[in-house]
Amino acid sequence: MGEDDIIEVRDLEHAFNGVKAVRGISFSVRRGEIFSFLGPNGAGKSTTINILTTLLPIQRGTVRVAGYDVAREPERVRESIGIVFQDEVLDRDLTVWETMEFHGRLYSIPRDERRRRIDDMLTVVELEAKRNERTKNLSGGMKRRLEIARGLMTRPEVLFLDEPTQGLDPQTRMRMWDYIR
Ligand SMILES: Nc1ncnc2c1ncn2[C@@H]1O[C@H](COP(=O)(O)OP(=O)(O)O)[C@@H](O)[C@H]1O
Ligand SMILES: [Mg+2]
Repeated sequence: MGEDDIIEVRDLEHAFNGVKAVRGISFSVRRGEIFSFLGPNGAGKSTTINILTTLLPIQRGTVRVAGYDVAREPERVRESIGIVFQDEVLDRDLTVWETMEFHGRLYSIPRDERRRRIDDMLTVVELEAKRNERTKNLSGGMKRRLEIARGLMTRPEVLFLDEPTQGLDPQTRMRMWDYIR
């Protein structure tokens, strides 16, 4: 594993009530790389992502994200990452713009910079026309795009996407990779 590795996972294991969900995996991801982590349902993908993003405590093995050990410096890791969860996490009654504004405030991005980034990101994911729409009125693909825009708004060094194209039609799936690139 080299200096350019933004993620390093070594001998990671995780069990739920004695049942192994992750059985000793190792991999590394280079800075700037789009890395896909594939496996059937129940393979342990979400569990692995949850450990890498500090949502689950690490049991065995070592994980470094953006240069920080998830066990020793979880807050540093959190500052370096963005995440789009497997299940949609949007406030149904907020508008597209409010969703972004709220997230930007949580991260203490100064007002002018925040507004600029919201405009930029909504343009990238082609949601400018929907900025005043409540999220409950968006299609599945639009919700996913909004979550990606939100995840990227804080300019994370690493963006984690758990099943980003789940439930999307083939055309939207193709476009999704364009947005992510
Ligand atoms: N919180 C949990 N408690 C108990 N078992 C869990 C929990 N989360 C996941 N598992 C189990 O761990 C295994 C891996 O699940 P998961 O990481 O969600 O797989 P994937 O995301 O690849 O579909 C499955 O057998 C699942 O049932
Ligand atoms: Mg999963």
